[in-house]
Amino acid sequence: MNKLMTMALMLCLCPLASYADDMTGKKLYQTYCIQCHGVEGDGYGINVEFMEVLPRDHTDTKEMMARTDEDLFKVIKFGGKAIDKSVLMPNWDGNLSDDEIDSLVGYLRVLCCQGEE
Ligand code: HEC
Repeated sequence: MNKLMTMALMLCLCPLASYADDMTGKKLYQTYCIQCHGVEGDGYGINVEFMEVLPRDHTDTKEMMARTDEDLFKVIKFGGKAIDKSVLMPNWDGNLSDDEIDSLVGYLRVLCCQGEE
């Protein structure tokens, strides 16, 4: 296949790429979130035994579907307190850009709801 065709193919495949292919969100999650929320996102990170409030199980479809993307964005950016949750959920507005937080919200939707659509 020539170069031009490959490019055309990639271009037309891109819009089909769903959240699941957004590696940025996953990478960020693996970097910043798993110590509390767990490698699988199930709420059992290594910090959990020291924590009074358990991190949200991000694979809990029912709970997670009860949140809007805006809620998720807000809690990541401003911390648990912003949505009347525990302060043990830190705020990330100093570390992550809005775009990065958007990717994380996308990845959370993969964790909670993959295969449920
Ligand atoms: C220091 C531990 C810790 C880290 C690190 C952490 N969280 Fe949390 N997170 C929590 C705790 C604890 C809760 C539960 C708060 C509650 O239920 O009151 C929570 C809750 C949440 C919630 C759910 C709020 C809800 O609506 O129930 C989301 C979404 C979330 N965290 C996303 C993230 C993301 C994304 C990251 C990484 C950028 C992250 N967290 C990193 C501890 C942490």
